[in-house]
Amino acid sequence: MARTFTPEELLAYDGSDSSKPVYIAVKGVVYDVSASREFYGKGGPYEAFAGRECSRALAIMKVDAAECNGNLADCTEKQLKTLEDWIAKFNTKYTVVGKAGEGGPAAEAAGAKPAPSGRWQDEKVDLDEIRKAMLRQSPFTPELLATLIIVGLLTALAGYILYIDMTGQQPLEPHTEL
Ligand code: HEM
Repeated sequence: MARTFTPEELLAYDGSDSSKPVYIAVKGVVYDVSASREFYGKGGPYEAFAGRECSRALAIMKVDAAECNGNLADCTEKQLKTLEDWIAKFNTKYTVVGKAGEGGPAAEAAGAKPAPSGRWQDEKVDLDEIRKAMLRQSPFTPELLATLIIVGLLTALAGYILYIDMTGQQPLEPHTEL
């Protein structure tokens, strides 16, 4: 069962405690990024993201704790595309451990900004949909499979033609029985 993290709970996984995993949240989905502690852990280049919802920072490409929130209202199409590219990367690289829940007064005090209504925080995060998206990113794309099948068929055909060619053109017996 996926866990729902409040912003305060998420902050407990900001990498400051080396015995705990490191989590980041993107569009309300919490990823375990412990495998990249060198990026997100204490002293790492992206420690500002650890334990926080960092959709905005990823979209606008700023490594800044002040930009770590879910506010995408003023983001351009290009920035939203950048965010989707990050999500695609995280979906293939990290495990989803839950979703980030609503903020509150304590969350705001901890530095999380409330999201205006009508954006991702109001949407239901569908973990099954995310798992399906992860499966869709399998290296065996339909194009690759089609190419493999065509190459296989052509190889079989070439082998068959070679076989016919060799068996059909046997040299005639040099002499016949008298
Ligand atoms: C001079 C600018 C920058 C350089 C040279 C740089 C370089 C790198 C390098 C080499 C990696 C490791 C890639 C890998 O091994 O997969 C990385 C990862 C990363 N970069 Fe940057 N980066 C820069 C700026 C930024 C900025 C402005 C952001 C803001 C969003 C950012 C966000 C990230 C994130 C989130 C990762 C980790 C991705 C993961 O978890 O795999 N980077 N960066």
